[in-house]
Amino acid sequence: MQFGRTTLSKFVIENTRSSHGELGGLLIDVAAAVKTISAMLAKGALAGYHGALESTNIQGEVQKKLDVLTNETILHHCEWGGQLAGMASEEMDDPYRIPEEYPRGRYLLIFDPLDGSSNSDVNVSVGTIFSIFSRPAAGDAQAADYLRPGSEQVAAGYAIYGPSTMMVLTLGDGTHGFTLDRENGNFILTHGNIRVPEDTREFAINTSNERFWEPPVQRYVSECKAGKTGIRGEDFNTRWIASMVAEVHRILIRGGIFMYPKDNKDPSKAGRLRLLYEANPMAMLIEQAGGAASTGRQRILEVAPDSLHQRLPVILGSKNEVERVERYHHEYDSGTDQPFVSPLFSDRSLFRDQA
Ligand code: AHG
Ligand code: MN
Ligand code: MN
Repeated sequence: MQFGRTTLSKFVIENTRSSHGELGGLLIDVAAAVKTISAMLAKGALAGYHGALESTNIQGEVQKKLDVLTNETILHHCEWGGQLAGMASEEMDDPYRIPEEYPRGRYLLIFDPLDGSSNSDVNVSVGTIFSIFSRPAAGDAQAADYLRPGSEQVAAGYAIYGPSTMMVLTLGDGTHGFTLDRENGNFILTHGNIRVPEDTREFAINTSNERFWEPPVQRYVSECKAGKTGIRGEDFNTRWIASMVAEVHRILIRGGIFMYPKDNKDPSKAGRLRLLYEANPMAMLIEQAGGAASTGRQRILEVAPDSLHQRLPVILGSKNEVERVERYHHEYDSGTDQPFVSPLFSDRSLFRDQA
């Protein structure tokens, strides 16, 4: 241990004593997997890990070599310890059964092994997201055990592989960030009790989908873009990294709102992001840091899942902005909304009929 600093191991052992070391042991294995992935990604093009495979995952997305390698890295770091009843991930159609030779435990680990994987080929930040539930007793998990609302998560976190590698974790008592010291291999607590500012003037959304959004989201974004000339009366800034981990990390550090809303591009999809291994863990981290996470119509942590790879709309970040977007959905649904009118078409508009 570095004197005067808290390592991730010390933090999780001290904060999980009631689980008799099981949850702490599992989190330490997750951290070991993250260090392996961090080293793998840091080699970049030198290692030959990049590129696509011919396989697709259950969601029809072409798998990258790194999607599969990072998935296996987490499975093999976490399967042996006797804490788990099973695992599920973005890259596996069905839950993973713990191999016969290992003992079973009470916990379920659900993860997105490589989030933002389209960014791995272009050397932009990517991440790993994970969610942990507990079952009443040890034993092999059944499919239905995974379909629990996010409010029942006992821990959630992500790793971000950026200029530095960090792990951000919640055990239900605040959100805490640890930075990897590459010289000695320890994660060190550097961001204790992170708080998301309640207000923000920065929004993140993929605007190429604008014409497919629902009216309440179009209204919100139009108002932000109108800046000082619109009803918000202030200019906004925008960001889109296309790695949810990197967007959530930025929001935890300096505030902001992230939206991947429902759109009608493919009406069979309720959203882009997945409930169990993207939205739930991020919602718990954001709420534990004082922010909010919603579908626009419901708190994400209260959504009852109906399938492992279920998608949903995600709107999260600074509390007051998320609540505003929720209000716009409510006003739209109840027919009381007042859609934004561009100043170009208002009283002083260039295009207004002068007669
Ligand atoms: P993944 O790489 O695990 O499939 O997740 C990518 C997600 C998320 O990280 C990001 O916010 C979003 O997809 C980007 O989507 P677009 O390419 O539509 O912008
Ligand atoms: Mn993802
Ligand atoms: Mn992924």
